[in-house]
Amino acid sequence: MEFGHGWTLLQLLLTASFSQAEEPVCRQWGYFENPQLVKDGDIMLGGLFSFHNNWKEREDTYTEKPLPLQCTSLNFREFQLAQAMLFAIEEINNSSVLLPGISLGYKIYDTCGSNAKSVKVALALLSDYENVSAPAKECVRPVHVQAMMGEASSSPSTAIATVIGPFFIPMISHFATCACLSDKSKYPSFLRTIPSDYYQSRALAQLVKFFGWTWVGAVRTNDDYGNSGMATFIESAQHLGICLEYSLSFFRTDPSSKIQKIINIIKASTSKVIVAFLSQADMDVIIHEFSSHNLTGYQWVGTEAWIFDFQTAAGDKNHILDGAIGLSIPKANVSGLKEFILNVDPLFSSNNELFTEFWEALFSCKLKHSNSAEMQRECTGLEDLTGVENTFTDMSLMPIFNNMYKGVYAVAHALHNILSCNQTCNSNVQLDPLTILQQIKEIYFKTKEGDEVYFNRNGDPAAKYEIINWQRRLYYLISLSLNAIKTTMVFPKTQEMQRTKVMPNAVCRSMQDHSEGWPMKVREQRKHSFKKKAEFLSYKEIMGALLAAASLFGTCMTVVVAVIFVKYRKTPLVRANNSELSFLLLFSLKLCFLCSLTFIGQPSEWSCMLRHTAFGITFVLCISCVLGKTILFLMAFKATLPGRNGIKWFGPTQQRVSVLGFTLVQVIICILWLTIAPPFPSKNFKGFKDKIILECSLGSSVGFWAVLGYIGLLAILCFICAFLGRKLPDNFNEAKFITFSMLIFCAVWITFIPAYVSSPGKFSVAVEIFAILASSFGLLICIFIPKCYIILIKPEENTKRNMMGKGALK
Ligand SMILES: *[C@@H]1O[C@H](CO)[C@@H](O)[C@H](O)[C@H]1NC(C)=O
Ligand SMILES: *[C@@H]1O[C@H](CO)[C@@H](O)[C@H](O)[C@H]1NC(C)=O
Ligand SMILES: *[C@@H]1O[C@H](CO)[C@@H](O)[C@H](O)[C@H]1NC(C)=O
Ligand SMILES: *[C@@H]1O[C@H](CO)[C@@H](O)[C@H](O)[C@H]1NC(C)=O
Ligand SMILES: *[C@@H]1O[C@H](CO)[C@@H](O)[C@H](O)[C@H]1NC(C)=O
Ligand SMILES: *[C@@H]1O[C@H](CO)[C@@H](O)[C@H](O)[C@H]1NC(C)=O
Repeated sequence: MEFGHGWTLLQLLLTASFSQAEEPVCRQWGYFENPQLVKDGDIMLGGLFSFHNNWKEREDTYTEKPLPLQCTSLNFREFQLAQAMLFAIEEINNSSVLLPGISLGYKIYDTCGSNAKSVKVALALLSDYENVSAPAKECVRPVHVQAMMGEASSSPSTAIATVIGPFFIPMISHFATCACLSDKSKYPSFLRTIPSDYYQSRALAQLVKFFGWTWVGAVRTNDDYGNSGMATFIESAQHLGICLEYSLSFFRTDPSSKIQKIINIIKASTSKVIVAFLSQADMDVIIHEFSSHNLTGYQWVGTEAWIFDFQTAAGDKNHILDGAIGLSIPKANVSGLKEFILNVDPLFSSNNELFTEFWEALFSCKLKHSNSAEMQRECTGLEDLTGVENTFTDMSLMPIFNNMYKGVYAVAHALHNILSCNQTCNSNVQLDPLTILQQIKEIYFKTKEGDEVYFNRNGDPAAKYEIINWQRRLYYLISLSLNAIKTTMVFPKTQEMQRTKVMPNAVCRSMQDHSEGWPMKVREQRKHSFKKKAEFLSYKEIMGALLAAASLFGTCMTVVVAVIFVKYRKTPLVRANNSELSFLLLFSLKLCFLCSLTFIGQPSEWSCMLRHTAFGITFVLCISCVLGKTILFLMAFKATLPGRNGIKWFGPTQQRVSVLGFTLVQVIICILWLTIAPPFPSKNFKGFKDKIILECSLGSSVGFWAVLGYIGLLAILCFICAFLGRKLPDNFNEAKFITFSMLIFCAVWITFIPAYVSSPGKFSVAVEIFAILASSFGLLICIFIPKCYIILIKPEENTKRNMMGKGALK
């Protein structure tokens, strides 16, 4: 309907100029549209900004000339964008390299965000309201501006691009993302420095799918931006198995009854995720309505139009948008631009109406010479902007300013090439829009910040997005994969509202939060809106409880064996078995069983560090005791051979020292691991679509494999010694049992590695606990149970006679 307005107007203007053809003067009909900002130059650029983003609805009677549009709602963002355009122009004007000796001028109009007004001012830019005499009965004259910068919104951009397309006037938009604008058969002269929603809609669908939100609602602006973007989103979402509960549209000028209806539908809905393809102005309407209805707890998924505007976040006092996630344009910086924007003196000296309105809105005051009705405090126009915190001083839209900056430079580079500038420019070249358009399409250059600028054959730049997630007071990194890209969210330091960013292609990393334990907590409070649940191996579930029970059972068993050994410590069997090493072995086995408990439960900073190191050290203690035993009886046997006396070299002192030495090596490995890259709690988003696995990251996998490798080395050494000694005459087949236990041990840990590497999430923890328990039970059963059997059941074999051949042992 809006577009209809524009079209009628265009026809009107055309007929008007033709019916005037008899007269010698070509004259524009209708109202004059005065440019809001203007400066003359050798080459003129047009600018189209919606300094106002709303207007008063009026009833057209069609019996008299419609009145001009009454614009309302001053939009500070557009002032910033206009300043960005002026900045680029001034910089090029100052440059002695780019377009030397040529000054750029500009003419900037307010479109009020209305399609009708946009078309009208675009035509004003083309023809410049001058009355020209037309001797040849034709109204032909050169175009007034060589290129146009703007508009920010998609719908006015389609309207303007339709009108100026036939004249091939290049138009470069910094913020109009509708995929429809890539159609060059409809909009031949439209170019943009922001990627098309073709990518964004699909990426949003992927994002929603990634979090496992399969039941969502959708709200969109009822214009080309919202309708086209949402259509693509819905199509992609359906392919991904996402179901839409509702899809609603509205426009900020709609009557409030329509907005109420939308709120009622959302209130009555069961889905808690809302995908919002809304422009900033429409999002403001929604936030306002949600606030007044206390509607919180929804998970918002948003588009670049509102999600990265810090002012939206700051204005959201009622926490409506907490946790909102969406895509935005990558961060950018144009040096000097901030200072330029905030320096409004030149605007002031221009002394125009727009400035008066702007200033009064900025400081809520009334300038002396203005005629605003309300009684307010007076201001002079010299108020200080420093310290003012509002949309005008907030620079979070710098990437969009950068887009504007790039657009102006693209035009300048094209002109530079056409005028064959080198120290001086060829001023005899007659400029025509088609040549400029073609030249801009071919352009490739880098801005002073190093950003590459070029357009593909649809006039679009390369698509690059960041993922933004709004959090309050959080400082963690979160990993996501979008289109199978590994991404990282980097949280900046504290402020009331945090914005987080994801850099595609970065490595997944996770950082612990030192002050709050699991930072996911805020999210978890809102669990109803998240299908993704945090998961870890807990005591409360069957697997965790069984493993814990097995570990406690093993501990008790070891205690019982120890008690038996203490009780029968005087019997030959216990004495022959080097009681010191045996008791140490029993003690370390107890620790082995217990250390598996640290693997169960929610990972914390301490449990993560304790887990592998406790396990590594107790196991090495255990194995070195067994190794001590094996070496001992190898020596003992050798000692019975004539001419050898090995046992002397492996007395109790040497035994202690070797056990201590072996263990010390592992302690050093663990200390190195803990100091260089300690394990830490992390969240794993991969693997499961609907779960987040809370686990311990290894910190350094080298550390982990060094600890395991060292245990393996000792086990193999032990196995070899026991294997060599298995045939030796020996009292209770000790060597055979040790060989067997080491065989079990090695088998368990060799099968552990592939199982560990391929088990997803918490199962890898379970596999590790299982391996620890299995090998501890193996040692306990093979080494101690046969002895307990003899001590308790067959005491007649527990005699000195059976100790023959080992008599030297004490
Ligand atoms: C460009 O530079 C010329 C002279 O250096 C100056 O007169 C003119 O005002 C400048 N134009 C703009 C837009 O800054
Ligand atoms: C252009 O040059 C003038 C005069 O040297 C300077 O004051 C102004 O800051 C420059 N503008 C930009 C955008 O570099
Ligand atoms: C053009 O002509 C019309 C009608 O004669 C007149 O009202 C208008 O002021 C003229 N415009 C300019 C810029 O001279
Ligand atoms: C919203 O909450 C505030 C305070 O919690 C309360 O005063 C107000 O009445 C609520 N509004 C609605 C519409 O429920
Ligand atoms: C942008 O660049 C300017 C100058 O190079 C610098 O002072 C400013 O801190 C930068 N801003 C950001 C957000 O990086
Ligand atoms: C510009 O002019 C200088 C000297 O007149 C010449 O050496 C140089 O090659 C020219 N550069 C280009 C790009 O034509």
